[in-house]
Amino acid sequence: LLSLVGEVLIDPGDIVFVAAPTYFVFLGTLNGLGARVISIPSDERGMQTELLENELQKIEAAGELSKVKLIYLVSYYENPTGISLSAERRQQAVEIAQRWSKSRRIFILEDAAYRELRYDGPELPSVWSFDPDRQTVILANTFSKSFSPGFRVGWGIVPTELVGPLNDRKGNEDFGSSNFCQHLLATMFGEGLYQDHVQLLRDTYCSKRDAMLAAAENWFSEISGVNWVHPHGGLYVWMSLPETLETGFDSPLFRRAAEVDKVMYVPGEVCYAGDPAGRPKNQMRLSFGTQDAEGIELGMQRLSQAVRAVLD
Ligand SMILES: Cc1ncc(COP(=O)(O)O)c(C=O)c1O
Repeated sequence: LLSLVGEVLIDPGDIVFVAAPTYFVFLGTLNGLGARVISIPSDERGMQTELLENELQKIEAAGELSKVKLIYLVSYYENPTGISLSAERRQQAVEIAQRWSKSRRIFILEDAAYRELRYDGPELPSVWSFDPDRQTVILANTFSKSFSPGFRVGWGIVPTELVGPLNDRKGNEDFGSSNFCQHLLATMFGEGLYQDHVQLLRDTYCSKRDAMLAAAENWFSEISGVNWVHPHGGLYVWMSLPETLETGFDSPLFRRAAEVDKVMYVPGEVCYAGDPAGRPKNQMRLSFGTQDAEGIELGMQRLSQAVRAVLD
């Protein structure tokens, strides 16, 4: 649905707002469509909506407001940071989108992929729930996280004006979603098995999250300048290293980690839009989805070894 929305709404040069950092695969989609991606910095409550408003003012002053098409928000336990947008900012984001829909409608694309993977912390209302007219927010969700990785069946709720264009495009894009997968899901729902399955995943991932946070404490707390986010859900821990320590694919750290210590991470810089020179280079996304607790502990030990080796 994310790429379909992009295809339907975005022409080259159109403006899309994203949080910085954000889901790098969708950044790739937007780049492929020729969108002008504007990053709005995030803090521990998600995208800073007041900065979004400032950007919109600048764009209007430049006479380019009609090019703004979309605000992309990963509302729950964002990939890569694990951070959720606060309830207050959810509401503000909808108000901002509506207030600035002057020459044309500015949509919010709410990507709620990790919503069901909640381990603790508050249960937040969706961004979509702050849009009672149902004309601003496109809610996109997937069963790839809550049912099975790589399942590639999702669902969405979209404003009426987009239903036709999205349906028309869907068949051309993927020749239809997998019939087998949809039957499997229908059976899970029909037999009342889905919620139990989600609970099983939650319990499993929660233990893995705890294992990764404990291992981070164990292996990284004594390395000065290292800090990390404690996520309430999702699959990732976002770690920042001392500013001088680069994590990119070509960095000494990445090479050492992959070749000597046999451990992998996603370099933080791929999660930012815009000029590569201006991106933070000292962050990494650590995933606790696949490994068991023992593997997580070993991986974190090895990664800390690589960090210490490059720092020395
Ligand atoms: C934030 C986010 N949105 C969407 C997806 C895509 O899920 P699907 O497998 O349904 O394409 C992912 C998968 O990693 C994701 O992290």
